[in-house]
Amino acid sequence: MTVSMYDDEPLAQTGGQPDQPTPTTTGKIDEQLTAIQQFYDKCNVFITGGTGFLGKTLIYKLLTSCPGIENIFLLVRSKRGKDIFSRVEEIFDDAMFDKMKQACPKYDHKIRAVAGDCMQPGLGISSSDREVLTENVNIVFHLAATVRFDEKMKTAMQINVKACRDVLDLCHDMKHLKSVIYVSTAYTQCPQSVVDERFYDPPLESDKMIHLTDCVTDGMIEKITPVLLDKWPNTYTFTKAIAEDVVRKNSRGMPVGMFRPGIANSRVRISAFCSPSQGSSFRHHA
Ligand SMILES: NC(=O)c1ccc[n+]([C@@H]2O[C@H](COP(=O)([O-])OP(=O)(O)OC[C@H]3O[C@@H](n4cnc5c(N)ncnc54)[C@H](OP(=O)(O)O)[C@@H]3O)[C@@H](O)[C@H]2O)c1
Repeated sequence: MTVSMYDDEPLAQTGGQPDQPTPTTTGKIDEQLTAIQQFYDKCNVFITGGTGFLGKTLIYKLLTSCPGIENIFLLVRSKRGKDIFSRVEEIFDDAMFDKMKQACPKYDHKIRAVAGDCMQPGLGISSSDREVLTENVNIVFHLAATVRFDEKMKTAMQINVKACRDVLDLCHDMKHLKSVIYVSTAYTQCPQSVVDERFYDPPLESDKMIHLTDCVTDGMIEKITPVLLDKWPNTYTFTKAIAEDVVRKNSRGMPVGMFRPGIANSRVRISAFCSPSQGSSFRHHA
């Protein structure tokens, strides 16, 4: 179900026409908007992985820097007995949002929870939610991933690879799409001594690896995992590298960019998001 975080007010049907003049939330044209604020103005954003470390940081940045954003849709699963609405509320319990709440007390009106799970086919999104997303979303960030190095290959393939394909499928159906960013990791290319801002050959082609994981038993895939990994140290970096191949092959005709951060944690400045020295990002026009 797609509803506002705290109430069931209907979603404003923006029709997603973000390239019009840029009235602010006050309705006035503001020529002082930065290029980035103009880009986001009146846009609806869809984020996967919003409950995670980088996802929270992204939500914070969008809410504080781009007040013209219409709605932020968050794909969230229920977890450990908590429903998606409690989980979305918990995102904002983090102290990092304290100042933002003072400056923008009505932030929650923009936050909309979408029930979904990367473990499910089609991200487990209901058909009604899918329609809301395809009709309204302009900008997509796909961050959801299992970041466990020792994740079972089948689970890592489902969350990191198949869900990435499902997100891109969803994006293909979006009627007013402006931008898609897939968050990878610099460690997908750990066999390289230097990583340039381009695609590299994957450890195995994504469609073949998906087919393999679909066909063999859990026990069998675990037995052959060390052979499959080859030069990759773990299932995390391996499946994220396969996901890059999914992005390369499934983004035809869409404005897709890929971001490969290095390590980002609370001790690394958030500007890592735009600092080439902390990772790399590039646009892909298939
Ligand atoms: N932090 C870093 O140093 C770093 C560096 C390079 C790249 N990255 C990339 O950045 C992205 C985010 O990383 P992070 O550090 O923020 O990781 P994180 O804190 O572990 O967050 C992972 C996010 O993915 C979501 N997720 C996992 N499995 C899911 C599922 N089955 N269905 C729906 N959502 C699911 C989690 O939701 P739940 O809360 O429901 O589990 C959480 O929101 C990842 O793609 C990662 O590869 C991170």
